[in-house]
Amino acid sequence: MQTDVRPAEMPRINTPELALQYIDEQIAAIREQVGGGKVLLALSGGVDSSVCAALLIRAIGKQLVCVHVNHGLLRKGEPEQVIEVFRNQMDANLIYVDAVDRFLDKLAGVSDPEQKRKIIGSEFIDVFVEEAEKLEGIRFLGQGTIYPDILESVAGIKAHHNVGGLPERLNFELVEPVKLLYKDEVRVVGKALGLPDSMVYRQPFPGPGLGVRCTGAITRDRLEALREADAIVREEIETLPELPWQYFCVVPDFKTTGIRDGKRTFDWPCIIRAISTVDVVEVNAVHLPYELIDRMVKRITSEVPHISRVLVDFTPKPPATVEWE
Ligand code: XMP
Repeated sequence: MQTDVRPAEMPRINTPELALQYIDEQIAAIREQVGGGKVLLALSGGVDSSVCAALLIRAIGKQLVCVHVNHGLLRKGEPEQVIEVFRNQMDANLIYVDAVDRFLDKLAGVSDPEQKRKIIGSEFIDVFVEEAEKLEGIRFLGQGTIYPDILESVAGIKAHHNVGGLPERLNFELVEPVKLLYKDEVRVVGKALGLPDSMVYRQPFPGPGLGVRCTGAITRDRLEALREADAIVREEIETLPELPWQYFCVVPDFKTTGIRDGKRTFDWPCIIRAISTVDVVEVNAVHLPYELIDRMVKRITSEVPHISRVLVDFTPKPPATVEWE
């Protein structure tokens, strides 16, 4: 078992050569820990779990069982990308769980943000544990814990496992091959493992996903409008030479009057938010070029049904948080 303390002599992994050396060391360590056993991993498609999965696949191949839970709150194309990269390209043992109805039914009519987060978190654990119980002979739980998670856990800020509550429900031994790495190092290792740039350099995305951006009680039609608008916002903002730290949109639960084809409409607004930050404690709004905003307004109002108005949120944090809920 590895320690939870980063050795002082450990170099900052910032070159492909150092990444390959780290990968070789971890492959040996994983094989020694796991032997012929099986490892289960919740694979969200985020940077940390993806790099952890890719490392485990290199080390133990089909002894790793990845479970990708689609809770219906993922961005457009995300579940497809996880399946393409891990099942088709890396030949991983991947179980895809379509839990969309289950999550959205539980969330129906729930408007309190904290209640929504609780439902999403506990439902995720239930779904994952059910999948684990269907499998036989699993002894290990893979987790994409990274070094800042460990430091925050030592400082008492949050529990260090990134899928809170899973280790308590499943009595498995943890395998955490990126736990001594900082985020930038995780990306360098991910790149060296052959993961696509769209996965390795992707912006942070909250665990409750689009659920905290479809404010109030989530409805399927508004969630779909949000998913489509978000895809346009990402596509357009990604044409910038330098990307904001985070960029997304929100579709709130109220309607405004509009006009389309000469007829009155009553549809949702869409709010674009792009921020820059170092530590997410203090955040500034990014001043997007006017032409880019103009393009997003035109595309969102013409391509996304039921959105008739687009706004930009320029508020720093504090007083506003990054997410609207
Ligand atoms: P806030 O809204 O608190 O966001 O200013 C700071 C950063 O944290 C992300 N965020 C979350 N991430 N689960 C997560 O995994 C959550 O419930 C959650 N809420 C906010 C947010 O996207 C931003 O990067």
